[in-house]
Amino acid sequence: MLRTRFTDLVGVKHPIVQGGMQWVGRAELVSAVANAGALGFLTGLTQPTPEALAKEIARCREMTDQPFGVNLTILPTIKPVPYDEYMDAIIRSGVKLVETAGNNPEKYIPVFKAAGVIIIHKCTAVRHALKAERLGVDAVSIDGFECAGHPGEDDIPGLILIPITADKLKIPFVASGGFGDARGLVAALALGADGVNMGTRFMATREAPIHDAVKQRLVDADERQTALIFRTMRNTARVHKNSIADKVIEIERRPGSTFKDVQDFVAGVKGRHVLEAGELDHGIFSAGMVQGLIHDIPTVKELVERIVDEAEAIITRRLQAMRERAVAAAE
Ligand SMILES: Cc1cc2nc3c(=O)[nH]c(=O)nc-3n(C[C@H](O)[C@H](O)[C@H](O)COP(=O)(O)O)c2cc1C
Repeated sequence: MLRTRFTDLVGVKHPIVQGGMQWVGRAELVSAVANAGALGFLTGLTQPTPEALAKEIARCREMTDQPFGVNLTILPTIKPVPYDEYMDAIIRSGVKLVETAGNNPEKYIPVFKAAGVIIIHKCTAVRHALKAERLGVDAVSIDGFECAGHPGEDDIPGLILIPITADKLKIPFVASGGFGDARGLVAALALGADGVNMGTRFMATREAPIHDAVKQRLVDADERQTALIFRTMRNTARVHKNSIADKVIEIERRPGSTFKDVQDFVAGVKGRHVLEAGELDHGIFSAGMVQGLIHDIPTVKELVERIVDEAEAIITRRLQAMRERAVAAAE
């Protein structure tokens, strides 16, 4: 068992978080994460309406009696999203943990706080983490350049981002992006984080409600098979490198190209189809470099237990053995 400021804050056993994942963060996965003693987030906007989100929360509660949360991703969308109503659905459902992401959560903080909700804000830059701290969030999840989804535009990998965050932030934080095994967890804790957040690694679990072909693709792929799209629009997204991602990058390189030129290729409905039907080149889907460290498709419980057990072994055996070796050599 590893106990940190973060596990104390959110009331779960292990310092491992499953971040919001569009089309993936449903009750099947989130309840499995909760039952394994880690913290899972349902993805609010995966549900088409606030009412559907309330039902999904109720469905998740039937599958676990452990704490879980809801991710609220605040991004500019083509179709306006009724964020206030999603927030109300979360509060009315009695959920006490929220992961905000995508934008400044200022508007939502007082309402969540008044309802006793713990807010973990996910961001990609230390300056944004510090701002969120000033605004009153309870914890931060900081995504390095390695991460799936939106790594921001600064391109700072975790090895630099995590210790700088640890030096500057007072509230607990989890390190995100590139984590998938015990070595990553121990490294994050050594760098000053209070836990890790994982996305891609949780996709390749038995309970993740996506097609087996996608899970197998993550096992087969190596660390080089991700692509950064939307760079030219300053809205960078790391996705799995498939023919559609290559096409989007090729179009982006054409002088004068705009979002309209790629819009059809990156449509959310096509990405959803990839995940649900397993047609790997039908659209784009988020995946991180950590896919190079994914070699199997365990249950969530097996994955979480493996990470925690091996992390303890690294700390108590591998690292301790190095000290003992030094002592023995000095004698
Ligand atoms: C398929 C997929 C969908 C994602 N969708 C969202 C999302 O809707 N909102 C969000 O805040 N983060 C989203 N993320 C990012 C994850 O929550 C997490 O921050 C990221 O995956 C961490 O990097 P990793 O994949 O290297 O572990 C998504 C990630 C994946 C893999």
